[in-house]
Amino acid sequence: RTPLVLAPLLSPTSSGIDPLDGAPVNYYTVTEVAASAAILPRLKTPILGYNGVFPGPTISVDQGSKTVLRMRNQLPAIHPLDGGTTMTSTHLHGSASLPQYDGYASDVTPNGFYKDYKYTNFQPARTLWYHDHAVHRTAQNAYSGLAGQYHLHDPLERALLPQGEYDVPLTITDAMFAVDGSLGYADNDHSGLWGDVILVNGKPWPVMKVQKRVYRFRILNASISRSLRPTLSTGDPLVIVGTDGGLMPRSQSVVTYRHAGAERYEVLIDFRKYATGQRIELRNLSNKNNVDYDFTNKIMAFDVVGDPVNTGDPTWNTIPGTLVGSEPMSLTAAQSTKTRRFRLKRNDLTNLFTIDDGSWQDVVASGFVKVVANPALGATEIWEFENSSGGWFHPIHIHLIDFQILSRNGRAPFPAELGPKDVVYVGEGETVRLLMKFGPHRGKYMIHCHNLPHEDHDMMVQFSVGLDPN
Ligand code: C2O
Ligand code: CU
Repeated sequence: RTPLVLAPLLSPTSSGIDPLDGAPVNYYTVTEVAASAAILPRLKTPILGYNGVFPGPTISVDQGSKTVLRMRNQLPAIHPLDGGTTMTSTHLHGSASLPQYDGYASDVTPNGFYKDYKYTNFQPARTLWYHDHAVHRTAQNAYSGLAGQYHLHDPLERALLPQGEYDVPLTITDAMFAVDGSLGYADNDHSGLWGDVILVNGKPWPVMKVQKRVYRFRILNASISRSLRPTLSTGDPLVIVGTDGGLMPRSQSVVTYRHAGAERYEVLIDFRKYATGQRIELRNLSNKNNVDYDFTNKIMAFDVVGDPVNTGDPTWNTIPGTLVGSEPMSLTAAQSTKTRRFRLKRNDLTNLFTIDDGSWQDVVASGFVKVVANPALGATEIWEFENSSGGWFHPIHIHLIDFQILSRNGRAPFPAELGPKDVVYVGEGETVRLLMKFGPHRGKYMIHCHNLPHEDHDMMVQFSVGLDPN
């Protein structure tokens, strides 16, 4: 019954021109603070929020503009969930950022300090999200509320897909609550957290009123562990038009698809054929190795209102077939100069997950974290991830680049993932082959599982681009 709400849109605190190249620059300030949120009826939930809200304010930018994001850490010194530290590091997930602005886990900002992050927004249009990435603290921080969407627009995307009120961000999370309304946190020996309440944009199982037209939903699964399998109660298709890295080459109609943490899918739903007053539910079929509860099979609902068919701009009121796809989708395996293999494993002694046997604990003599792969700047490579960790799935995220999924267990990837990606769902026993080109920056970047308790303990390693191995 709770109406769907949208995160506030963030306005720049000031704007200017970059004297070096004439590009517009927008300056934003976001403050990380402890706050209280109205999530459950009659109760208040203490959260940590960007500007005190969960999800954080949406940032919307145009390709070619620059962003300077001042992130002020004004969190309390003690983490309300577990008494740990409240250092933060902000990652703009989906952005090919310079290494010093990428939210490197060990590059933390203590409370009372700020850091300016600079983003050049040169990539094709896409749905990004910013979230905390502090070493060993990412799960608690993101779960407490430090996550928000960031939309990068370009002219092609603006012409093809619904905009404005028909372009709707849906940030899905799961949570568990104590009787007083506070968030419960239990990550079961760092294997994951599965809440019994599904939140969309910070509200439990909300309802959105929709007109009889085509809507675009930017679906982000910001759950720290849970994966989803969205489907409509009518059995009608969800039309996937965008994946993590932006527009797919062609739209794909699917009845359902697997949606792991951190993946973004842009989905069109055509409400034109439904009756006024009809309710359509967005449901969640189950995936292996999640902990499901009585109502985790539902996400939200849409109530169709009686507006005429052609409200809004008719150019956005169609389901496009051919879109465009971005650079990684036009790479071919023949361009690859090297294949690297990574095995996702579970350590028999510690029960912790690793990438090969590596983790963020592997420090070399220089004191830095070990580099596990060092592609040259501009090199195209195939990276293969094999999940030999037993009955677990791992959403693997590679920073900096977008990739094309070449194959899954030797077969074609799923229709929903035939677009540019930066997270790949590596299911139980699966092997995926990914094709990517390294650049445009040199530097060290993270590879990790996006089940955040896995990432924190310590299923994360790093690669370098265009540098000598350390
Ligand atoms: Cu969304 Cu390295 O993270
Ligand atoms: Cu994992």
